[in-house]
Amino acid sequence: MKLLEVKNLYTQFNTDAGVVKAVDGVSFSVEAGKTIGIVGESGSGKSVTAMSVIRLLDYPGEVKSGEVFYKGKDLTKASEAEMRAIRGNEISVIFQEPMTSLNPVFTIKSQLNEAIILHQKISVKEATEISLNMLKSVKIENAEEVLDYYPHQLSGGMRQRVMIAMSLACKPDILIADEPTTALDVIIQAEILKLMNDLRTDLNTSIIFISHDLGVVSQMADDVIVMINGRVVEQSPIKQLFDNPIHPYTRSLISSFLRTDIDTKVEDYVPLDEYANVTDKYDFKNFEENRMADADWVEVDPGHFVAVNLKK
Ligand SMILES: Nc1ncnc2c1ncn2[C@@H]1O[C@H](COP(=O)(O)OP(=O)(O)O)[C@@H](O)[C@H]1O
Ligand SMILES: [Mg+2]
Repeated sequence: MKLLEVKNLYTQFNTDAGVVKAVDGVSFSVEAGKTIGIVGESGSGKSVTAMSVIRLLDYPGEVKSGEVFYKGKDLTKASEAEMRAIRGNEISVIFQEPMTSLNPVFTIKSQLNEAIILHQKISVKEATEISLNMLKSVKIENAEEVLDYYPHQLSGGMRQRVMIAMSLACKPDILIADEPTTALDVIIQAEILKLMNDLRTDLNTSIIFISHDLGVVSQMADDVIVMINGRVVEQSPIKQLFDNPIHPYTRSLISSFLRTDIDTKVEDYVPLDEYANVTDKYDFKNFEENRMADADWVEVDPGHFVAVNLKK
């Protein structure tokens, strides 16, 4: 079942230096209980896509056109009051650097309680009970003590756990995780990814998982969309993407990932000699400039789509 459907989204920033077309015709959907990964290099429009969905764009960003259907409602047309009710409650977000989302002058308890009480009419005592359980569920061992800590008393990994607890406190339908582990070292990163996967199974939350790191995305996502220059060039179940990447940009992402991953051999994933067949069929000229809407969007395998120019 489609929980969220983004259709032909265009978002731009009108700056003094000119118009930045940050998201340039992006479409994808989020299935109930599934994780969709968004991968692409820095500046490709991943965060702006996510912020457009929940309408938290930085000034002077603006959604120019497109639709974001959530439970039958187009969020691009929802009122600010409707969006406030959805944010944190039905769709919540975790960012790369939790220090920017946690308030340094309040304790963890007061921030968790506030997030809970904002959406549920319950007493402080009941909220504290939920907060405590949330900290335990994100595997914080001395949870009673941590409730009274201020953010600076926690390590980066602990802060990210608190953020995950906070974002899941209201059992959202959709969690948007924007580079949630990029600021953490690899061991802590692996723990946080496992935690998110476990919580997803327990709570049946759909996740939009954003990362520039294909390796991280591959551990989390069921399906993945590949972005470059504000456009989607390929969408696929994660395994197919590795087995049969079609778009030149996807291939370069995969081979640069494999080069840095010492445990993986290229032959394990990519049938390199099949590349030639693909370029006989499709033309990728100007693929960085082509809008998805202009490209021929081909389904190469069930659920595996690629933006190409068909050879006429
Ligand atoms: N506040 C802003 N003002 C102007 N341009 C912006 C702003 N935020 C993002 N952009 C531009 O939008 C594009 C996409 O950015 P972003 O979505 O943050 O990339 P990613 O998350 O993939 O690294 C980039 O070219 C970036 O410079
Ligand atoms: Mg980003």
